[in-house]
Amino acid sequence: MSALRTEGYGQAPGKLILAGEHAVVFGHEAVAVAVDRRTEIWLRRVEGPRRLVADLRDARLNDALDVILPKEGVEVSIRTALPVGRGMGSSGALAVALLRARADLVGAPIDFAACHRDGFAIERVFHGTPSGLDHAVSARGGALRYRRGPDGAVELSPLPPPRWPLVVLDSGAAGDTGAMVAGVRSRRPAIDGALEAIGAVSAAVIAALQAGAGPEALGPLLNQNHALLQQIGVSTPELDALVTLARQAGAAGAKLAGAGGGGVVIAACADPAPVLAAAAAAGVSAWAAPVAPPCA
Ligand code: PMV
Repeated sequence: MSALRTEGYGQAPGKLILAGEHAVVFGHEAVAVAVDRRTEIWLRRVEGPRRLVADLRDARLNDALDVILPKEGVEVSIRTALPVGRGMGSSGALAVALLRARADLVGAPIDFAACHRDGFAIERVFHGTPSGLDHAVSARGGALRYRRGPDGAVELSPLPPPRWPLVVLDSGAAGDTGAMVAGVRSRRPAIDGALEAIGAVSAAVIAALQAGAGPEALGPLLNQNHALLQQIGVSTPELDALVTLARQAGAAGAKLAGAGGGGVVIAACADPAPVLAAAAAAGVSAWAAPVAPPCA
């Protein structure tokens, strides 16, 4: 019989939503890509109460650990390159990395279906009624088309990712995904037409990716999606200003990405350099984000 493992390790990438955030919570299609910034988790068997060593601060973290770990006998070390509340899928990556680390500790590999099912319980601690998009793309890598119907049935399929990096511009402010989703829910049914129109933009983004579209074709779709996100009340003057900055610097299109109320903007650019330079001149943190490859 093999000896009990004393350590386990798991990692997972964050994500950016190309189209469909919020609408995806209400049964419409969305498109997301995994990004090459990761959360890593190490678990170690120890004596006594559970210990947490983390380079991120989040009041909900211990409640999230409670979902799958005992309160005794384990040390949890977390290292992440994903800022919390910035629309980059930090909680989805945490959920997947944690499930993978526990699977490694107990010596039983976890497949995508189990990871996605169990990830919901962890994601619910962070934001109430998740669509499951974030932790799905985090677990799969690459680019993903995702839809979760009203009955909870999930449809997903890999897409060809953009072959060019997205430019990310960080507002520096955190948004609260749970509060933003609750706000959108409270504005229904008046905004149902806009949510449906967001789903139609997602469908157009899917077709564009399948056709191997470049930034010039995808940009206008990002612009349409941003206008609809403004209509459903999740943008902010700061996010709108970043979208304008990117477009004026030559981006083919830009939108907020994630729940909004703070977080990041993504831009589709044939040449990221002028957009990165304009962001630097305005004191905005920005970078070109390569897509993380699909998991083996
Ligand atoms: O801002 P994030 O990374 O938590 O993304 C939220 C995406 C939403 O569509 C707003 C919520 C969801 O569960 O899909």
